[in-house]
Amino acid sequence: MNTQTALRLGVNIDHIATIRQARGTSYPDLVEAVRIVEEAGADIITLHLREDRRHIQDRDVEVLRERITTGMNLEMAATEEMQAIALRIRPEACCIVPERREELTTEGGLDVLGQEARLKAFCAPLLAAGIEVSLFVEPDLAHLDAALRIGAPVVELHTGAYASAAPGPDREAHLERIVAAAAHGHARGLVVNAGHGLDYENVLSIAAIPVMHELNIGHAIVARALFTGIGEAVRAMRAAMDRARR
Ligand code: PXP
Repeated sequence: MNTQTALRLGVNIDHIATIRQARGTSYPDLVEAVRIVEEAGADIITLHLREDRRHIQDRDVEVLRERITTGMNLEMAATEEMQAIALRIRPEACCIVPERREELTTEGGLDVLGQEARLKAFCAPLLAAGIEVSLFVEPDLAHLDAALRIGAPVVELHTGAYASAAPGPDREAHLERIVAAAAHGHARGLVVNAGHGLDYENVLSIAAIPVMHELNIGHAIVARALFTGIGEAVRAMRAAMDRARR
């Protein structure tokens, strides 16, 4: 291993809820999914309570708070409603993301430069409650410096542009930005995570970044689970990440 600590895997379970919501059934059962995902080696369970409740529901957050044994990473927008929910539920971690109703998925990092004062005020009560606050940001040095000023201990680097670029110089350039941002943040004391669009192939270069602490991955794992089952899909991602660090 070329790193002191093992790379953590956060499994995002939103799309298990997406399948349930598509038909308004009681299945697939998120509690059972979490049990299997944790047994298969997830280090934390990530769920995004969106303003439009398109997948995860308020009740899921309540129920899973009792049933998750690793840790809950609640993804949410910086709204008063979400702040109140987080302060009541007290997840181990909160990842603050931008949200637009019409987007298919989180489409960009937070505007940490334009919203610095607002985000600082928003994060303060969460930090005071002992919640590990993470800001989802573009891999951009100025954004990391803003995250530091805001007082967030953790950043999650948005890997979406890297993940959607075709292999070649464009993707390499995106990777270099992520590597540089991770080094910049780590050197200044930030815990550096990453996520969005990672799959079983493009995860390798991101997992190989020695200072990377945790990757949050959902879509690729849930999609593979259709063929292999969710436990095997998590184990395969864990194995790919471990291989990249050897
Ligand atoms: N990290 C953040 C902040 C996200 O918003 C998402 C998507 O909900 C993910 C990670 C996981 O992305 P994906 O589902 O593409 O693996």
